[in-house]
Amino acid sequence: MRDLGNALQLARETGVALGHFNVSDLVLLKAVFSSAQDLKVPVLVGASEGEREFMGVRQIAALVRSLREEFDFPVFLNADHTHSLEKALEAAKAGFDSVVFDASALPFEQNIRETKGAVEALKSINPSILVEGEIGNIGTGSEIHELATDLSKYLTTPSEAKQFVELTRVDVLAPAVGNMHGMSQEMVEGEKKKRLDIERIAQIRTAARVPLTLHGGSGTDDGDLVQAIAAGISIIHINTELRVAWRRGLEAGLAAEPNQVVPYKILPVAVESVKQVTLSRLRLFNQIAKPAIGKKDMAASTAREQQAVP
Ligand code: G3H
Ligand code: ZN
Repeated sequence: MRDLGNALQLARETGVALGHFNVSDLVLLKAVFSSAQDLKVPVLVGASEGEREFMGVRQIAALVRSLREEFDFPVFLNADHTHSLEKALEAAKAGFDSVVFDASALPFEQNIRETKGAVEALKSINPSILVEGEIGNIGTGSEIHELATDLSKYLTTPSEAKQFVELTRVDVLAPAVGNMHGMSQEMVEGEKKKRLDIERIAQIRTAARVPLTLHGGSGTDDGDLVQAIAAGISIIHINTELRVAWRRGLEAGLAAEPNQVVPYKILPVAVESVKQVTLSRLRLFNQIAKPAIGKKDMAASTAREQQAVP
């Protein structure tokens, strides 16, 4: 399964979703890849414009390609939330497997025009690249927000979804179905969950007839995510949860050894912290039960979980 299109089709046929995790550095990439390897499931690595700017477009492409080739493993790379054609083409030329062309902030007709142009231009560079388009408004920023904004009036309708897909010819559609980018502090503490409009997802899937992506997956109710997959979601994006775990892991690693200056002796704690999140999300998206653990493992696991949050 070396092709993202095949991985998506297989996910749909088997009633699971591909986990998409954003990365900004090697700590995050190691955690994502090693979780997918442990569970033997395909995985999608995401890099937004800002994340690509930091890591280098060709550099992250080379890293993911090297993992795929060395381990003969289905790990794919997505150019997440790309707002300009120039940056979309740059990612396609670097070998990304997919591009999220995000013109959702523009008026609907303009979004259609720009996305259609992007699909044509990207496919002329790489006919097998997958292009995702976005409609509706789910807010911006994979970070901790002070206040949760009410985005209910921007939910996607099935007829908009149908029109958008037919006119742009995108391979994948990202709708607004109760999801939103980022988390409130209450969500970080686990006191509040995002809830999804499952009926709307099913109607959009029927109308659009292409795989759907759920953006803004962090802090979403687990039961809703399972139902959303059954209703037609094939890719789920998680970023803020990983960033929270990255920061907490990094702080724990530094605090554990105040005089340590060797990065590769500190950073494994951060990798492990992020990995607890990616493992748990991949299990949920791929219907893999958490293995029962013995008493000895239990003590180690409890110690790990106390350190690795959320
Ligand atoms: O594209 C990235 C995501 O949609 C992540 O959203 O930070 O709410 O998980 P999140
Ligand atoms: Zn997103």
